[in-house]
Amino acid sequence: MGEDRQPLPRGARCFLAYPQTDDRTEFLAAVSQSLDLHAPWVAAPCTTQAFASFLERARQPDQVSFLIRKNDSLAMAGVINFSQIVRGLFQSSYLGFYAFRPASGQGIMCEGLELALRYYFETLGLHRIEANVQPNNARSLALVKRLGFRYEGFSPKYLFIDGAWRDHERFALTAEDFASLKLS
Ligand SMILES: CC(C)(COP(=O)(O)OP(=O)(O)OC[C@H]1O[C@@H](n2cnc3c(N)ncnc32)[C@H](O)[C@@H]1OP(=O)(O)O)[C@@H](O)C(=O)NCCC(=O)NCCS
Repeated sequence: MGEDRQPLPRGARCFLAYPQTDDRTEFLAAVSQSLDLHAPWVAAPCTTQAFASFLERARQPDQVSFLIRKNDSLAMAGVINFSQIVRGLFQSSYLGFYAFRPASGQGIMCEGLELALRYYFETLGLHRIEANVQPNNARSLALVKRLGFRYEGFSPKYLFIDGAWRDHERFALTAEDFASLKLS
């Protein structure tokens, strides 16, 4: 998010890092290893050009992107994007995320997202975050519910993904919701 970057938090098993140019080789290898995990839900950057575009977006003032890295091995475990951040009376944005094999399914995404949400509400001072998930994306639905997101409603033909306009379920979390949560 521009130049006013703050120190990033660390949890029991993982920490957050800003994506850097030097991450490219490891990032593209992690995406290539995780294609079956991501399809058909997300198309993560999988070429040098796509990674450069991701970095450029991550440095825009209306976006914050994190890599999640494991404390023990430093391996990349996933990516979190807060995109289209609007300040003023809205103080809100959209959440995107994906995990990387082999770290997936170990609770690292859950811990990394909790760290990122704490940073989002408590350090950046934002008020609301929205997550839109396809109705049959069971793992992502489970993850946002575990993080305390509230169900807001059904959005027909919401996003163009994998060649078609896909229905989504809309979830949101406010700073007040987050403050009252008892996460792990
Ligand atoms: C959704 C996604 C990010 C989940 O990643 P993940 O690495 O499986 O997430 P986590 O490991 O944090 O949590 C998932 C599992 O770990 C388990 N877990 C949680 N804490 C744990 C711990 N401390 N130790 C071991 N396992 C744990 C959870 O119970 C859960 O298992 P379950 O779903 O079988 O009950 C991943 O499947 C993915 O990248 N999907 C494709 C991208 C996508 O859909 N993005 C969102 C689009 S809206």
